[in-house]
Amino acid sequence: MTEADLPAVAAIERQLFPDPWSENLFRDDLRDDGRRMAVCLRSDGAVAGYAVGWFVEDEFHLGNLAVAREWQGRGLGKRLLAHALDQARSRSCRLATLEVRASNRTAIGLYRRSGFTEVAVRKRYYGAEDALVMLAELDAARC
Ligand SMILES: CC(C)(COP(=O)(O)OP(=O)(O)OC[C@H]1O[C@@H](n2cnc3c(N)ncnc32)[C@H](O)[C@@H]1OP(=O)(O)O)[C@@H](O)C(=O)NCCC(=O)NCCS
Repeated sequence: MTEADLPAVAAIERQLFPDPWSENLFRDDLRDDGRRMAVCLRSDGAVAGYAVGWFVEDEFHLGNLAVAREWQGRGLGKRLLAHALDQARSRSCRLATLEVRASNRTAIGLYRRSGFTEVAVRKRYYGAEDALVMLAELDAARC
């Protein structure tokens, strides 16, 4: 993800989420301090999806994963998640964690099939809605 992608990323964010991240929040994750990952998938130059995550010691936390509505259901979310987890493995992370809305069956299904399991519930994490905390153990040999 680059500065030039931010308007398109923020537009997708507004399309998909009731509590969208601002351009400034994404901009923060473009800083090259060795602790952040921010990637975009493009089609014909246009942003189709993105993922943001943070490396904390031996843990990777997925902060955001999204695919524009018109591109959903074609395997892009799975590819973005696989890429993020490969980045984490290549930095010797042993664990990946994330929060997801308890009602988001599509994302929860994707995470489960990618090796995540539910380990906790954060009550009213998203306003009135609970978050599931999901965790995957990362096997460096799979990188
Ligand atoms: C969740 C999201 C990133 C998935 O991306 P995607 O490109 O649509 O998903 P993919 O095409 O890669 O499919 C991934 C898996 O989800 C399943 N899936 C996709 N769309 C689905 C749907 N509408 N209902 C049920 N399962 C679905 C697919 O079958 C696939 O599993 P499989 O390959 O094992 O069969 C995307 O739907 C999205 O951006 N949603 C809105 C934002 C969001 O909820 N982000 C996650 C926040 S934690």
